[in-house]
Formats: sequence, C-alpha cells, structure tokens
Amino acid sequence: MARKYDVIVIGAGAAGMMCAIQAGKRGRSVLVIDHAAAPGEKIRISGGGRCNFTNIHAGPKNFLSANPHFAKSALARYTPRDFIALVEQHGIAWHEKTLGQLFCDNSAKDIIRMLADEMRAAGAELRLKIEVASIEQIDGGFRVATSEGALESSSLVIATGGKSIPKMGATGFAYKIAEQFGLPLIETRPALVPLTLDPALLELLAPLSGIAAPAEIRHGKTAFREALLFTHRGLSGPAILQISSYWREGDEITVGIEPDIDVLAHLKAARQANGRQSAQTALAEILPKRLAQHIAEAEKMTGNMADQSGARLAQLAAAVQDWKIKPSGSEGYRTAEVTLGGIDTASLDSRTMETKAVAGLFFIGECVDVTGWLGGYNFQWAWASGYVAGEAA
Ligand code: FDA
Repeated sequence: MARKYDVIVIGAGAAGMMCAIQAGKRGRSVLVIDHAAAPGEKIRISGGGRCNFTNIHAGPKNFLSANPHFAKSALARYTPRDFIALVEQHGIAWHEKTLGQLFCDNSAKDIIRMLADEMRAAGAELRLKIEVASIEQIDGGFRVATSEGALESSSLVIATGGKSIPKMGATGFAYKIAEQFGLPLIETRPALVPLTLDPALLELLAPLSGIAAPAEIRHGKTAFREALLFTHRGLSGPAILQISSYWREGDEITVGIEPDIDVLAHLKAARQANGRQSAQTALAEILPKRLAQHIAEAEKMTGNMADQSGARLAQLAAAVQDWKIKPSGSEGYRTAEVTLGGIDTASLDSRTMETKAVAGLFFIGECVDVTGWLGGYNFQWAWASGYVAGEAA
C-alpha cells in the first residue's frame, strides 16, 4: 500500500523547503524527500558559509530567462522583505555586505535550521536518503516509486535544482522528469562560473595568478563592475562569474581594470610630475605591482615616461581599460554556482509554477529557466518560486 499525501516535494533544498512550509501552513499534508543525507546542502556551502540569502534590490531585471517577464509574478508575491522578516523572526543576525547582498552574521546553518523549524511547525514531514525510482501519473495525482516504497500525492513538486556541483548530488533529475511529461527544455549550461584561457595566454598570465583588482567586464551591452581575479586556470572573481552567464563559446569579453580611475589622465600627470620614472612605476601607483609590470612589458613600454608620446600613453591606458580577451571555455558544472536554462517557462503558470499540461505537477527553483545574477538573487528566486507553488500545491 502506498503512503498518501496531499503534496510530495522532491528536493529538500531552498525552493523545496520553502514550498513545503507554505503548503503545510495551508493545512496540506506534505512530505519532502531527498536523496542526500541532510537538507539544504547548497545553502550550507553558500556565500562562503554565511549564505547570501537575498538581495534587497532583487527584481526581474536581475534574472536571465528566455521569457524575462516570467519571474515578475513570483518575485512580486514573495519579496526580499518577506524573507528578511522571516530571518528576523528567528533571531538570525544579518548584515549587508555590498550591492544589496545580505549575509548571515554567523552561519548559513542558521538558515537551514530556520527552514527545518518552519517545516516542522507547519507539519511538513522530511525524509532523507531516499532514491526516486520512477514517477507515474495516476488517477487524481502521482505515484512515486522510491527506495523506501511507493508514495502517492495529488500534487507533486519537483525542486531538485540544476546540474551544478555534481559531487554534491546534483543530478539533472528535474530535466528527466520534464522530458517524461513532454515538457520543453531550454538548453542548459554552467553559469556563474570561472572562465578558462587557452594555454598560450594562460602561460603569459601565469605570473598574475592570485591578483585581484576592481574591474568592469563587458560582453556586448552587458557590463558588471566588481572584482576580477586572475587564477591558475584563467579568470574568476565576481565580475567574471557575472559575465559568464552571458558569454558564449567563441565570444570576446572586454576587461577594464580600475574603471573608476581615468588611467590616461593618471599617466599624463605622472609624466608631467616625474618624467624620469618608468611606465611600469607610473602604472604601479594605481595597479597591483605584478599587473603593472605585466601590462608595461606586454605593451613594450621601454624608456622613461618623458619618452612616451601621447599616443603611446593612450595605448597603455587602453591595455589597462579596454583589454580584449577571448576565453577558451569555462570551468563547467564542477565549479558553476548555477545552471542556466532548464524547464521552459512557457510550460509553467507564472503565478503558481504548475505545469500547464499536467495538473498538479510543479517545478520550482533552479531547475526552471530563471537564473539570477550573483549576489543573493538565486536564493530569492528559490524562496519566491517555492512560496507561490506552496500556496497552490
Ligand atoms: P538546491 O540545489 O538547493 O536543492 C536541490 C535538492 O534536491 C538538494 O537537496 C538535492 O540533494 C536534491 N536532489 C537532487 N536530485 C535529487 C534526486 N534525484 N532525488 C532526490 N533529491 C534530489 N545563491 C545565492 O543566492 N546566494 C549565495 O550565496 C549562493 N552561493 C552559492 C555557492 C555555491 C558554491 C553554489 C554551488 C551555489 C550558490 N548559490 C547561491 C546558488 C544557490 O545555491 C542555488 O541557486 C539554490 O540552492 C537553488 O535552490 P534549489 O532549491 O532550486 O536547488
């Protein structure tokens, strides 16, 4: 005999737990199952262990999707203020780091504990280390065959996340279920991920590994101003992770280091003030020393500043602020924070996340083709999509 529930949620991550809380509060009998040994594993490792749980500026413009309007409804119904209120109700101290990004003062585990406590209070049951063997539609709902026997529910919520960090149990399960029910998918790819460089460029930039600098990274009309980090594999840091969601194989990106400084004006002033210094020394006043050395050498800036023409200084300034780089690839799902693409939003009702074709079947969180920028936006999407599904499932 199958155990019966009103709602089964597969995936005890950010979206699944939020959905279970909301459905439970409505008096629905809710079971959350997960193949992992603990709930919210990605929350635990997020934000360097402090969980960047939302962004106070979160709005539809901060998300990528084939339908940029899709996220509006859920984001309007469950806002960053709503999540902050929940966090404060549980006495969790938080702070704004930068750019509206909110982090726990203490630990990401506080957020997991809060969600688990809320689930318990709402009467939602959590069962871990359960493998799902198959899902079938039955009269009045769904039958889920698991390693612990059969389960049945009238609503089924798929909240199993994306493909990023497979060693933490990411499976692409949601996409398989979507395919089973004939739902369209938007091609998936790693996003918020470091970019790699071809071996020749990597060798040239190897001495810069470990250096970070403020930068503006541009790709077409999209630009992000945050830190850039040179690594032994290529380029990383928040600015690169952000642009990686827009970058495609074969594309060029433009790197502008120290975007708030007028580098040409600085170089001209340096030539005026001390014509006997080298270009490298003049650059090192505004850039990390090794980076200044690399750029001066790459631009073959020999002689002292007094020897440099205006055109040469402009060339040097362009090398700092208009540096064209063609990444060779990305580090892939191994290190990507999220998965771009996923369940095509055309198949979902934006107010409830229920599939239009299969009554009672919902997809929420990262598996849906809604991908946030870096900075707490992806959790806000998980909370918001989980909340609206929990109101309807
Ligand atoms: P999530 O991945 O959280 O949960 C899915 C759940 O489903 C997991 O518990 C998994 O075990 C389970 N599952 C998967 N397959 C299953 C199967 N076949 N059967 C049963 N269960 C299955 N975002 C942000 O806003 N701020 C931040 O600070 C960070 N930091 C961050 C750091 C790192 C290192 C990563 C990798 C990612 C982030 N993110 C982030 C992104 C954020 O973690 C992500 O967007 C959300 O966790 C997505 O929530 P979901 O609930 O959709 O999936």
